Amino acid sequence: MSLTADSRLLQVDLRSAGYGAVPVLHDIAFDLDEGRRLVILGANGAGKTTTLRALTGLCAAQGSIRFAGAPLQGLPAHRIARHGIAHVPQGRGTVPDLTVRENLLLGGTLRSPREAAADVGFWMDRFPRLGERAARPASGLSGGEQQLLAIARAFMARPRLVLLDEPSLGLAPKVTAEVFAAIDELGRARGTALLIVEQNAALALAIADTALVLESGRIVTRGAAADLQGDDDLRRAYLGV
Ligand SMILES: Nc1ncnc2c1ncn2[C@@H]1O[C@H](COP(=O)(O)OP(=O)(O)O)[C@@H](O)[C@H]1O
Ligand SMILES: [Mg+2]
Repeated sequence: MSLTADSRLLQVDLRSAGYGAVPVLHDIAFDLDEGRRLVILGANGAGKTTTLRALTGLCAAQGSIRFAGAPLQGLPAHRIARHGIAHVPQGRGTVPDLTVRENLLLGGTLRSPREAAADVGFWMDRFPRLGERAARPASGLSGGEQQLLAIARAFMARPRLVLLDEPSLGLAPKVTAEVFAAIDELGRARGTALLIVEQNAALALAIADTALVLESGRIVTRGAAADLQGDDDLRRAYLGV
């Protein structure tokens, strides 16, 4: 049976989005089904972060955003989160002065205290480095550990969709590979849909189903992640790699 339009988890059809009088994004349309992965690639300044901000109510957007059939456009960020979308922002967004445990609990504020406490235990076991540092400030973690903390915090909300903004930013290649392996495994284990924006095309395409490429706020190409992965011309033209 083919999926009808309404069975899509996320349906985005934006005429424009941005911060002021001059829009950053133009004609951004894509869909994402439950449990699937979409990666948005593009060079610095292409509009990747702005796309995620438009979805989570953090910048102005004109057009339509539907999530599990419900319209989201115009809703404030906290109401969008309640629909089951968690956002791991660029630069991670962990709170440096709070402990690792407190950072995790911030992700569970929409859930009962008992459920949230149980999930904190799960994440401490899953990422033992976080468990060892539970009572210490997040500022003492390495960059990779902070990224894992930010990801675990997003999953604390038991979301249906996680938005990840450049999870590789500032991390050494080996650490980046570990972070992507964790994202891949968690998404699979929980059946969570993922929307990842990245400049690191190879790693992101390797765990995605579909991909689109942004240039100057417009979609310039899209397709199956495996097809883009093998397209050297495309990588050179739009991604500089
Ligand atoms: N808060 C802001 N106010 C005005 N312009 C912004 C703001 N943030 C980003 N921009 C502009 O929007 C464009 C896209 O930025 P961004 O979405 O951050 O790109 P990317 O994440 O792909 O690097 C850039 O030209 C940038 O200068
Ligand atoms: Mg960005």
